[in-house]
Amino acid sequence: MDKFRIVGGKKLSGTVRVSGAKNAVLPILAAAPLLDGRMEITNAPHLSDIATLMRILSTVGVKCDREHSGRVWAEVSDPRSSTAPYSLVRTMRASFNLLGPMWARRGYAKVSLPGGCNIGHRPVDLHLKGLRALGARIRVEGGYVVAEGEPVGGRIYLGGSFGSTVLGTCNVLCAAVLAKGDTTIEGAAMEPEVQDLCHFLIACGAEIEGVGSHLLRVHGVKELKGASWKVIPDRIEAATLVIAGLITNSEILVEGLRPEHLSAVLDRFDAAGVRIEVGEDSIRTLPREGRIRPLDLTTYPYPGFPTDMQAQFMALLTLADGISVVTERIYPERFIHAAELTRMGALIRREGASAVIQGVERLSGAPVMASDLRASAALVLAGLVAEGITLVDRVYHIDRGYERIEEKLRSLGADVERVQE
Ligand code: EPU
Repeated sequence: MDKFRIVGGKKLSGTVRVSGAKNAVLPILAAAPLLDGRMEITNAPHLSDIATLMRILSTVGVKCDREHSGRVWAEVSDPRSSTAPYSLVRTMRASFNLLGPMWARRGYAKVSLPGGCNIGHRPVDLHLKGLRALGARIRVEGGYVVAEGEPVGGRIYLGGSFGSTVLGTCNVLCAAVLAKGDTTIEGAAMEPEVQDLCHFLIACGAEIEGVGSHLLRVHGVKELKGASWKVIPDRIEAATLVIAGLITNSEILVEGLRPEHLSAVLDRFDAAGVRIEVGEDSIRTLPREGRIRPLDLTTYPYPGFPTDMQAQFMALLTLADGISVVTERIYPERFIHAAELTRMGALIRREGASAVIQGVERLSGAPVMASDLRASAALVLAGLVAEGITLVDRVYHIDRGYERIEEKLRSLGADVERVQE
């Protein structure tokens, strides 16, 4: 199994470019069964999650391939095979998003329930509630969800006590675009990746109003054609790379990002007293005098602070000059990285859905275990500044969502190596 071996303490310098957003590619690619004709995504990152979704698509009669240039294309070849198997869906929850598109276009879909997840409880009840409101007859059978019937427009509230659901909104939206009549989705998620899916579907001929708000109005159309799409830059990768510059107190330029997608993160950088220069499509980190300021941070749905940046920001706060409190409002159990950071000398205490972090002056390298994608990124960031050697185990988690992260960090001067042990 691959590990990262990181020799900490190296200053970084230079420029690094952000890749296309994984979480935009996945729901867009999952929409392929809706389309008549070929779709393509021109700047898809090279990630194992995208390869997994392509494999699942091929099992449900969608041909797809990836070209060397990064272009991924998909086209329906056999609409009769509509079963997405457990063996693949359980490895990646986003594949549950084949349910809405397959059902809407084919009148039948059978998709495995994804099962457990190491960032906490992740139900799909709202996906099913939304599809039922559009006329789906849904039953659960042998661990699979079967959806049947013809989609018709409806009125749906998709909010919950936590806010809104990103993939749930995408799944239901994909059915609404081909439903007979009009649909209103209230409490829709407004994450940039949801907006990107909306814009892609509109390019395919869908009629959607309210993009980027909590209220989506959809006028169902009879068919959608394929389109070519350049997905938005990955805001989480961008902010992770910025923290690589900040945690090592270095000057680096992270380019090819959209600062307007990072307002809540930029606000917390400001509170931490770090030095950054925000350009039109870039962020430059600058060395600071003194230590990072402690702060409070709470994750919320967009435009709030993203849960997908919580672990990485916590790595930065382990070195703050005082006590910080990080609270998880999306996944209250998403704190496995806290225990691993403690193995590197951080002082972190769990209190319910919060972590209380007493900043320390230095971290020290240690063997640590990645538990999920963002937790692994946090451990790599901590390893960049820790004294000595950090060995991050199970880096297959990081390969799910960060394209060539070790190469990108090495190009900035970090001492990170992929090793097999
Ligand atoms: N929820 C329900 N019922 C549902 C769906 C969600 O109760 O039917 C709850 C969840 O348990 C959670 C909250 O709603 O408390 C928000 O979950 P959401 O549905 O928005 O998450 P998701 O759509 O399954 C996406 C990202 C995650 C990211 C979350 C939150 C993709 C492929 N995944 O998941 O990304 O953490 O939104 O922003 O887009 C990652 O990239 O590392 C990652 C986990």
